[in-house]
Amino acid sequence: MQREATFFSSSIGKKVVMAASGLVLFGFVVGHMIGNLQVYLGAEALNAYGEFLRHVLHGQGIWIARAGVLLAVVLHIWAATSLTLSNWSARPVGYREWQARESTYASRTMVWSGPILAAFIIYHLAHLTTGSVHPQFIAADVYHNVVIGFQNPFVSAFYILAMLALGLHMYHGVWSMLQTLGVSHERWNPWRRVFAAVVTGIVVVGNISIPVAVLTGVVHL
Ligand code: HEM
Repeated sequence: MQREATFFSSSIGKKVVMAASGLVLFGFVVGHMIGNLQVYLGAEALNAYGEFLRHVLHGQGIWIARAGVLLAVVLHIWAATSLTLSNWSARPVGYREWQARESTYASRTMVWSGPILAAFIIYHLAHLTTGSVHPQFIAADVYHNVVIGFQNPFVSAFYILAMLALGLHMYHGVWSMLQTLGVSHERWNPWRRVFAAVVTGIVVVGNISIPVAVLTGVVHL
């Protein structure tokens, strides 16, 4: 017990928690984007997919997935906050000369892209899951909710900005997750960047294409 407590309070333990919970969230985001792309197959296909998710394992599957994702989100935020606070307290005085050496632009943005994503998810759930901030929400008509929702250019713009923040966050997240999980070798390092960039690019472009397709009338009611 004592040993576990020490592991989770150590910085390497927190990094492992970040990487493992990040892996779960990565899987969710990729799977969710593939599901979202069904909007291009039309209302029937997207709604049937939503219906299918709601009925897996007699309706319990979606709750098991929600519990898993929620647990991953809580652990991810806990580990991130705790690591950031201990980094700050380890160096109360700023560097006299700021240097970008090891950190990339994406890694420096983690501290603001993370909170933006958290705010986006809260809004997104109220928009497309509960419908409480949606002007014409129809339960179980996912296609209608998506199309009407994105016809508002401000809503679409917010989603597009959030997807760009997701891109920065995921690019650095996937890269450092692979490092923590041991995929770190001189020979593999360039491939780690390529892998992070390619999956991130696919997720960002795939998701952003949806509000753009609605605004341009490619996807319509
Ligand atoms: C343009 C991009 C996106 C679109 C079109 C979209 C669409 C949707 C829709 C239609 C639902 C409701 C599904 C249903 O009720 O059957 C949903 C739920 C959800 N989305 Fe997204 N989404 C997008 C991006 C994201 C991103 C980037 C994340 C996370 C970072 C995310 C996280 C979630 C979560 C957690 C749920 C709730 C799932 C549940 O518990 O039922 N979404 N999304």
